[in-house]
Amino acid sequence: MPTSLLSDLSDAHLKGRRVLVRADLNVPLDAERTVTDDTRIRASIPTLRRLTSAGARVVLLSHLGRPKGSPDPAFSLAPVGGVLAAALDAPVRFVPDLAGERAVAAVAALGEGEVLLLENTRFEAGETANDPDLASHLAGFGDLFVNDAFGTAHRAHASTAGVAERIRDAGGQAVAGELVARELRFLGDALADPERPFVAILGGAKISGKIDVVEALLPRVDRLLVGGAMANTFLLAMGYGVGASLVEPDRVEMARALMDRAGDRILLPVDVRVASDITGSASVGVSARVAVGPADRTADIGPATERPYAAEVLAAKTVVWNGPMGVFEMTPFRGGTVSVARAVAEAADGGAMTVLGGGDSAAAAEVAGVADRLTHISTGGGASLAYLAGAALPGIAALSQGEAG
Ligand code: 3PG
Repeated sequence: MPTSLLSDLSDAHLKGRRVLVRADLNVPLDAERTVTDDTRIRASIPTLRRLTSAGARVVLLSHLGRPKGSPDPAFSLAPVGGVLAAALDAPVRFVPDLAGERAVAAVAALGEGEVLLLENTRFEAGETANDPDLASHLAGFGDLFVNDAFGTAHRAHASTAGVAERIRDAGGQAVAGELVARELRFLGDALADPERPFVAILGGAKISGKIDVVEALLPRVDRLLVGGAMANTFLLAMGYGVGASLVEPDRVEMARALMDRAGDRILLPVDVRVASDITGSASVGVSARVAVGPADRTADIGPATERPYAAEVLAAKTVVWNGPMGVFEMTPFRGGTVSVARAVAEAADGGAMTVLGGGDSAAAAEVAGVADRLTHISTGGGASLAYLAGAALPGIAALSQGEAG
């Protein structure tokens, strides 16, 4: 049975109701505590607007960063409240409390169409422990729970899974918000019934962190393009030297086994960009994979690799991309990632479904200037990886099933 959705609920059902919304407002802040990337805040707006325009009383929860289960001003959600109000174009009341009297009083005072943001859920030790008492306390704030925190859906925490179960146990409903519905639709469609050719692009530092994703994608894809430092482990398994590059020697056997199973469906770099140091002012050389020297560090795929990778992407009807092709944060090592990003955008322009997952890849799409051309950019890092790997997401599994209404 499908997950129940907020979009199935009528305005009449929402009017005047106290609705508890879990969003993922875990955004980066600089030293002055200014939000430096508001993507996740903007992504939460469709659900909030739907609820406020229907006259719901919205109690909003989120975590921010990884505080240690007690209040820490460095992780307060206060700066997020201001940015959220601007994005929503409506007041957002912030109360620096979650489990105490001030939160209870503020929730009770909420008017129709108003939004109240409570303090960082991780200021309570019970959050990450999925403590039943904290979950019950939160469940007391409403009889409808909307989970819109896709980025945190892989965590079984009190404000994600626990509260949904409590509200359902008490006869209420727990539904997926607009963002979660969108994420599940695009990531789910890409995996369940991809239009072919289906090309997956995987990059990033380590094969060990993505092994479940590789295992899950391999039987489904027509081509798997590998870049980033994780490619080094495959190159080592093929018998090539990788010099002083980041590599996981203890995963060489695993890489070999994957290549045996994948046959010609897996593409690996035929050349790489190398430098003696990975810095923004490094002088970069290009090396065939047979010729990487002992002092070389590989930091990007090379131009002879970009061409076949782009050709595969341009021929695809479905593209899933997770992880950059190199150290794209530094200008000398972004050529491969930008080339792949442009090909993915061109494929999208031609009608292919293109889905990007993971914070690094989303930042790479921004750097390449193609973010607004792709079909969908996931707001989830670990969550999108878990979903691509076929793992159950506890925050989603805890929601009501069947058509909401
Ligand atoms: C994320 O940024 O991936 C989510 O907000 C989850 O954060 P976490 O990894 O600290 O649980």
